[in-house]
Amino acid sequence: MDGDLLGFMIALPNYTEDESRVPLYSEPEKALIKRFNSRIAYISTIAVHPSSMRKGFGTILINSLIDACLNWNPKAEAIFLHVKSDNTQAMKFYEKIGFVQDSFIKDYYNEDSHAYLYVLVLVSARQS
Ligand SMILES: CC(C)(COP(=O)(O)OP(=O)(O)OC[C@H]1O[C@@H](n2cnc3c(N)ncnc32)[C@H](O)[C@@H]1OP(=O)(O)O)[C@@H](O)C(=O)NCCC(=O)NCCS
Repeated sequence: MDGDLLGFMIALPNYTEDESRVPLYSEPEKALIKRFNSRIAYISTIAVHPSSMRKGFGTILINSLIDACLNWNPKAEAIFLHVKSDNTQAMKFYEKIGFVQDSFIKDYYNEDSHAYLYVLVLVSARQS
């Protein structure tokens, strides 16, 4: 196991920082960004090696992003992501952490490949 890659995540703690991306946002994304005052993080991808799944590594990766979001200035108020509408295992993983389904985006990936938008509200960030 030494030196092996157990998993990885690509995420943006301050998703709206790059304004050149704004025209690329879908309508549900725009609504989320507005709802959380542009203080929102995004998970682009996350994966754990199949031999290391269900050992808590995915949760550790998400928790590291939550910590980064709460230390960001200004703090992120929420984290969101897209998940393929047939990836039920990933949806169970996100729901266990506290993410909730926000909206359905038809043909998000390709024709006949749809996405759900999931969002995690960072309650403690809202207390500041
Ligand atoms: C989704 C993924 C990152 C989860 O990583 P992980 O390290 O296995 O997840 P964890 O061990 O932290 O799981 C935490 C909880 O999530 C839920 N969960 C995770 N994988 C699950 C699965 N396959 N089926 C049902 N529930 C699952 C469980 O409640 C689990 O707790 P438990 O093991 O005590 O029951 C991993 O399955 C993966 O890499 N999948 C393939 C890539 C992918 O689909 N990425 C998401 C793209 S949007």
